[in-house]
Amino acid sequence: MKPLIVANWKMNPQTLTEAKVLFNSVKRGIKNVRNVEVVICPSFIYLSSFKFQVSGFKMGAQNCFWKEKGAFTGEISPLMLKDLGVDYIIIGHSERRIYFGETDELINRKIKATIKAKIIPILCVGETQKQKAQGETGRILRKQIETGFKNVPSSKFHFSRICIAYEPIWAIGTGKSCSINETMSSVLFIRKIISHFYNRKLAENLRILYGGSVIKENVSDYVKEARADGLLIGGASLKAKEFIKIVKEATS
Ligand code: PGA
Repeated sequence: MKPLIVANWKMNPQTLTEAKVLFNSVKRGIKNVRNVEVVICPSFIYLSSFKFQVSGFKMGAQNCFWKEKGAFTGEISPLMLKDLGVDYIIIGHSERRIYFGETDELINRKIKATIKAKIIPILCVGETQKQKAQGETGRILRKQIETGFKNVPSSKFHFSRICIAYEPIWAIGTGKSCSINETMSSVLFIRKIISHFYNRKLAENLRILYGGSVIKENVSDYVKEARADGLLIGGASLKAKEFIKIVKEATS
């Protein structure tokens, strides 16, 4: 499996000009890199300004609504994203759970809507510092995954090439990256949950990413040592040189 490297730009950069500079620098930097799948998730409003079709990147969105159309002021539907050529949507990022009150039930609706639109969902799961200290990581991951995929049939799961990103909340944007052992045990645990919830074959084919303070220096810890199938990168994806090094490191 090629590593999957997803850049989550969040609400950055502030202008389209800066976004284009970043996009073009990354494009130049990784144009000859093979054996990797790179997904760039800019803000919604920049999506249509980049020439994803000719650049070899995949296009991702950071969120979507769960209805196809209608009176939902300010929302963006998966069908609109599909029409733009979006391949992936990040669903249930912890920032959406924390700042926008997204629940596992709402996230489940978004997952189903994304699959229906034939876009690949990346479900984000992970525990807080307090939950980790209380030994609750396993219970939290199980609840987020089981509710997130409720009523998603195994056939859909398989054909949609669903991804799960393990993103411990205490490691996001803090510089406190998760240890190799902790990451490895969560990756294995997530596979076990999917194996139990669906079947072993699905679990083996599932792509599990790690996210949380990834920098070029710790890439190999996650993709080689901890056996994550890829990375979800926030802060470091905004620095072209750093991000290019991360992509190269993941394939070396
Ligand atoms: P970070 O963010 O790389 O800045 O920690 C990761 C994420 O939020 O997806």
